[in-house]
Amino acid sequence: MVTDKEIALIQTSFEKIRPISAKAAELFYANLFTMDPSLRHLFKKDMAEQGKMLMSVLSSAVRGLSNIDELVPVLSELGKRHAGYGVIDTHYLTVGAALIRTLEQGLSDEFTTEVRDAWCAAYELIADVMQTGAQEAIERKAA
Ligand code: HEM
Repeated sequence: MVTDKEIALIQTSFEKIRPISAKAAELFYANLFTMDPSLRHLFKKDMAEQGKMLMSVLSSAVRGLSNIDELVPVLSELGKRHAGYGVIDTHYLTVGAALIRTLEQGLSDEFTTEVRDAWCAAYELIADVMQTGAQEAIERKAA
């Protein structure tokens, strides 16, 4: 559950990242591959292109947090596709940590404990819906 106050904190802080989104995406992947170099082989596409897609989905997810019912099917499908890319549950923890680190670098002093907690709650929610979507796809395949 992400509260209205947390949604407001996330949306305001994301607005500050938006103008530097290409740089933020680059930083995110650098953080990710430092934390777990073995993840690099999962990414086949051009990383600048990949970064743009990540920021664009993150941006709509941030906007859609206040309307979670509409967001769930989109994230669930995204999670299913991720299972196909070879993404497993534990990867979501590393990606979450890399995202938080990137926000910390991008927002510096403005990344207060309150803002951090709000982002963690939102990421957990997004990751949870994506993982449930992936799980459903795996179960359907096995049935
Ligand atoms: C908040 C969570 C995440 C978001 C919003 C997100 C977003 C995206 C988007 C928009 C794409 C483009 C392709 C598509 O739409 O299907 C993508 C691809 C991909 N993502 Fe994610 N992702 C997330 C979590 C993860 C995690 C945890 C991993 C694990 C390492 C991961 C690895 C990948 C890979 C390997 C691809 C395909 C790259 C390729 O084809 O070269 N993502 N992601």
